[in-house]
Amino acid sequence: MQAVHRIHNFNAGPAALPLPVLEEIKASFLDFQGTGMSIVEMSHRSKEFEAVLNDAVARTRRLLKLDSRYHVTFLQGGATLQFAMIPMNFLADRRSADYVNTGTWSTNAIKEARVLNKPVRVAASSEDRQFTYIPQNVAFSPEAVYAHITSNNTIRGTQWARFPETGGVPLVADMSSDFMSRPFDPAPFGLVYAGAQKNIGPAGVTMVIVREDLLARVPEQLPVMLKYTTYTAKNSLYNTPPCFAIYAVQLVLKWLEETVGGLEKMAAVNQAKAARVYGVIDASNGFYRGTAEPASRSQMNVTFRLQSEALEKQFLEEAVKNGLGGLKGHRSVGGCRASIYNAVPQAAVDALADYMEAFARQRG
Ligand SMILES: Cc1ncc(COP(=O)(O)O)c(C=O)c1O
Repeated sequence: MQAVHRIHNFNAGPAALPLPVLEEIKASFLDFQGTGMSIVEMSHRSKEFEAVLNDAVARTRRLLKLDSRYHVTFLQGGATLQFAMIPMNFLADRRSADYVNTGTWSTNAIKEARVLNKPVRVAASSEDRQFTYIPQNVAFSPEAVYAHITSNNTIRGTQWARFPETGGVPLVADMSSDFMSRPFDPAPFGLVYAGAQKNIGPAGVTMVIVREDLLARVPEQLPVMLKYTTYTAKNSLYNTPPCFAIYAVQLVLKWLEETVGGLEKMAAVNQAKAARVYGVIDASNGFYRGTAEPASRSQMNVTFRLQSEALEKQFLEEAVKNGLGGLKGHRSVGGCRASIYNAVPQAAVDALADYMEAFARQRG
């Protein structure tokens, strides 16, 4: 049998998925559990699909240690739709919410709230230094309905190491690019959302975890697909959900629980991976320059520059020749970015670190 060609994949999203998950999808694709049908060919109301969905929910609850106040739901429209749904659902009575602006995705979340004419306040921002850091000691308003943060900033390569104190105001977090990469205490969170396509699956589904008390704020008159209560009341099966994406998420969560051994273990692996790449950057005598301030560095997206754009171009071209893909920085900021999500193995990170050291030796 011919070996399948696979590169070391550092894409920012859609991104690498665990190989055993892809293999299981392949093996079961034509005949799912002896049904004689693919998972993409069967009713979303079949007992087989409902079992997949319920297993994904149960695994999420166990992995994140969620108590019964939290609902786990699956939506479409990406994290971007959440930018609008959150203010629509929670700010109907004209009360305000606080936002921390740490880059493009937070900026977009703020913009969407304002498109809807909702009274949101920017409680802190790191725009003054090109979003290279996470603001500390943010003063949230006790009047705010929620406090919105972006837990990991995919483009600038910064991450909240510890979540901010809000004085009891529910935290709402866009965890798209570090969801399930580390454990966290769910108690301060009113809502957590994550587009699947970085850490937990393919594009097409967004996980939204919402706490019961916030649902009391959802206005009855919203369109049905834009109300969180539609998803919580119907176990995400009001209409046809993205079945295949949910199935893939279920398999990734199973891999996280059973193969990796949970979020503490995942976090330790992720820390070691990030330390390896930042170690190369810091030992390179300025050949590579990390763009995030060290205390705010992301464990998921390592962003760095070389001395010139020409050198960056060479670095990226030779990386591809060495089997290392997806290292180009986001088009809005340029430079280089290694996205080392859960499914990127230590071996891929080692290959990247070795390549970076060798490239610096040759060109430095
Ligand atoms: C942190 C974060 N939030 C939101 C988005 C937008 O997500 P989507 O494309 O699922 O709408 C992204 C996409 O890269 C992201 O990284």
